[in-house]
Amino acid sequence: MIRLGDGLRSSIGTKFLMAVSGVLLLGFVVAHMLGNLQLFLGHEALDSYAQKIQDMGALLWVARAGLFTLLVLHVGSALKLTRQNRAARPIPYGVHKPFQSSYASRTMVMSGVIVLAFVLYHLLHFTFGAVDAESYALAHAGAGLQVHAMVVHAFQQPIVALSYMLAMALLSLHIAHGVGSLFQTLGLNTQRTRCAATRLGKGVGAVVFLGNVSMPLAVLAGWVGGN
Ligand code: HEM
Repeated sequence: MIRLGDGLRSSIGTKFLMAVSGVLLLGFVVAHMLGNLQLFLGHEALDSYAQKIQDMGALLWVARAGLFTLLVLHVGSALKLTRQNRAARPIPYGVHKPFQSSYASRTMVMSGVIVLAFVLYHLLHFTFGAVDAESYALAHAGAGLQVHAMVVHAFQQPIVALSYMLAMALLSLHIAHGVGSLFQTLGLNTQRTRCAATRLGKGVGAVVFLGNVSMPLAVLAGWVGGN
């Protein structure tokens, strides 16, 4: 009988772990996006939402620990699979002609690394205030959190808004391919589901892209201003 630990360490188990952690991380990305879209409802809506999250206290730290664990599992299993793939083919192809693989699938590792770099930058930006002290000071100037002012000030700087948009494009490509491969990983791929899975991946990627890009774009265009 295969024990659970051995199963998860096997190549299929690692893929399964990557898929499950990926789906849960996607859940966070969508929930975070829906919360952030309150930017369009004005500062009261976004600020009181951010304050409610901040007031969760210990529960917030449990959620953060869960999120961090998912990230470690997702990145860890991706690294392990990449290592296994390389070991299975120590001599690279003389001429590499990808057959039936999309641009997104060939660049999963690269887009993953850039998304990870974005998340680190994003935390230093909005959570720790290390890269844009002026925006961060705006959020903590009054009695309650003023996240709306912080986000608007950040995205009024073209270089910040554009780098967010670029990161969102790569995140969406990563998600589109990840969702598209999910069925295969779970062993549900048939001729019929393959096409539906690809379409679902592209749809989810497009929703994440449009929702997230709308915020820096709206601020940059002046549609969403200060208080
Ligand atoms: C335009 C898009 C986005 C905006 C406007 C935005 C905004 C914010 C803000 C304002 C915070 C700080 C909240 C606070 O400290 O009160 C935050 C935290 C965070 N964001 Fe984003 N975010 C965006 C996209 C993303 C994406 C795409 C990801 C993941 C891929 C992400 C991951 C996180 C994480 C992990 C935190 C820390 C949560 C915590 O521990 O409190 N964000 N975001």
